[in-house]
Amino acid sequence: MKDGGQQIRRVVAISDLHIDLKENREWLERLCDEDHRDECLLLAGDLASGIKQVEAGLSRLVSSYGQVFFVPGNHDLWVKPGEITDSLVRFHELRALCQSLSISDCPSELYEPSGNPRLVILPIHSWYALPGEAESLFLPKPGEDPSLSMWADRIRIRWPVEIANPAEYFLALNETMDLGNTSPVVISFSHFLPRRELMFAEIQRKGAHCSSAGDRAPRFNFSRVAGSKGIDSLIRRFGSTVHIHGHQHRNRDRWIEGVHYLSYCLGYPQERLRAGIRTETVKPLEVWTG
Ligand SMILES: [Fe+2]
Ligand SMILES: [Fe+2]
Repeated sequence: MKDGGQQIRRVVAISDLHIDLKENREWLERLCDEDHRDECLLLAGDLASGIKQVEAGLSRLVSSYGQVFFVPGNHDLWVKPGEITDSLVRFHELRALCQSLSISDCPSELYEPSGNPRLVILPIHSWYALPGEAESLFLPKPGEDPSLSMWADRIRIRWPVEIANPAEYFLALNETMDLGNTSPVVISFSHFLPRRELMFAEIQRKGAHCSSAGDRAPRFNFSRVAGSKGIDSLIRRFGSTVHIHGHQHRNRDRWIEGVHYLSYCLGYPQERLRAGIRTETVKPLEVWTG
């Protein structure tokens, strides 16, 4: 499989590297010390929460991987208190950064010289829909704090006045995608969740609300900020075979109505500790091989 002269034999995916954290940064260094030139990496957001660190991480990844695709997550769009910029300006800074590093954030085809079979990589820009918005994944949770006082985006994400609905704004950026003729394999990815079911480790029972046994944050309702049904509409419209998402820091592997949904993250060191996952065993997940 070939794209721009680069032989790509595998497509791998991961999200939520959060390389602001030393242990995660060291993990990235070890990963990039290996040669991944025959691999295409899909990075599904939350690389870091400062543009300098995002730049350092992306630069390191392109030095190791044959090709890198990236969509920003909420942490990538954080702005510091006192910074003049807003999260939309940061988004465009990141797009420019990706372009300068030859990292793709728009649909691209990978194909053999014979042209068949082709593979389409489809990054989906997105944001979460809030409760009350049409595409929200919200489910009520008893005892929740509706003000989301625990959610740092409330302080660190700042939209300009012209963006009244960020979920709609980002979905609309994907509307101009032109995939041309139908491809046998379309692999899409987004940072945010496309469907409610994916919030749950098990198939959701009727009437279930968004909480689970051993809830470490009983007042926080993740479904308020999880994702958008609009992402799934795009997945269906473009005929994705596989869709990868991030954001939840929970791994998922599930088939729903003909689409294979996967989530695979590095997450926070304390999350790996609690789950008994050794950091060195985490590797980007293979989602396609030639
Ligand atoms: Fe994250
Ligand atoms: Fe996130």
